[in-house]
Amino acid sequence: MINKTAAIIAAAGMGHRLGANLPKALVKLLDKTLVEHAVANLSPVCELIIVTAPSGYEAEYSKILGDQVEVITGGVLRSDSIRLAISKIPAKYEYVLVHDAARALASTTLASSVLSQLIQGEQAVVPALNVIDTIKEVDAKGYVRNTLDRSALKVIQTPQGFTRSVLERAHMASEDATDDAALVEALGIAVKVIAGEDGALKITTPSDLAAGIRLLIPDSSKNYKVGIGVDAHAFTADKNRKLSLAGLIWEDEIGLDGHSDGDVASHAICDALLSAADLGDLGSNFGVAEAKYEGATGAQMLSESLAKVKEAGFKIENVSVQIVGNRPKIAPRRAEAISALSKALSGAKVSVSATSTDGLGFTGEGKGLSAIATALLVSA
Ligand code: CTP
Ligand code: MG
Repeated sequence: MINKTAAIIAAAGMGHRLGANLPKALVKLLDKTLVEHAVANLSPVCELIIVTAPSGYEAEYSKILGDQVEVITGGVLRSDSIRLAISKIPAKYEYVLVHDAARALASTTLASSVLSQLIQGEQAVVPALNVIDTIKEVDAKGYVRNTLDRSALKVIQTPQGFTRSVLERAHMASEDATDDAALVEALGIAVKVIAGEDGALKITTPSDLAAGIRLLIPDSSKNYKVGIGVDAHAFTADKNRKLSLAGLIWEDEIGLDGHSDGDVASHAICDALLSAADLGDLGSNFGVAEAKYEGATGAQMLSESLAKVKEAGFKIENVSVQIVGNRPKIAPRRAEAISALSKALSGAKVSVSATSTDGLGFTGEGKGLSAIATALLVSA
């Protein structure tokens, strides 16, 4: 089991203030709807995602989100939606991230920072930004009552993270709250505040939507570099060698030969990263036969490649890998593979696909596996 984290994405609101004549979560932000962005950003760190949909829209949500998420009917108020979603989370999940589809662009890195605080023992964690404007309390007649001390104020965002038991207790009382942490505070439990991000802005009005689009458009002042990588390994005759592929161990599958763990998907990504940064390839950087890389895991090679790419002044924009072979079937573990690869790359966006080759070539004949990857880097 890679992690025990479930996420609830609240997406059952109608988006009256946006006024798009359809639920806000179905509004498009460039290539994807808000809810698709939110799912894509959280899926690398969560094993289970529950999305709340407005009544009557469940099938439409399921259609665009596919079988990687569970869509349930939301409630009248946001807290009703969250309460319904909590009841659907199986007992094995220890941590729950609660997120708004309206904060569609909150990054995987932010979700992963929230989660790591929970793993370190916090019970409730919220991301927050400093307040830029002066905040005043104003009475009903329109006169200033007083000016608040800005230095102690924060703007709270999502995803918020909770241990499952604390979140359950917080939502036991049927109170309404637009913020889950507020219910936890009411129980007297400490809520840890961590640094939020501009990207986690809440899309409420048409001008927020325009701000979201601006965040997605590539910055022309930056330097973008693309790289490609390919790897192939033969299936082994060693019955004790397990298959390592896309950062996962595949029990009951034939392993791949290799000096390291033979993870073709991870190696293809490493080559793509190194080539994009103009740093040569796996062999020239790590020495394929070097003793220290004997049995090295794909995750280890990915982390080391990332360190080199960072040192060269780049950040990963996204990585995409396609595995070529007859088996294993990738789809049932795609989310897990994305999560493992993304984790090894410090939360970078990763996509994983697979294909067979219609019986042709060494992969079609079942002699081994190959993988091809691309990486897009941006100057940091
Ligand atoms: N939400 C929900 N269930 C509800 C109401 C809201 O899951 N009964 C979700 C929304 O889909 C949104 C998040 O809670 O992602 C935050 O709510 P908000 O931004 O207010 O969205 P809407 O309620 O859709 O917008 P509006 O208030 O403008 O109608
Ligand atoms: Mg609302």
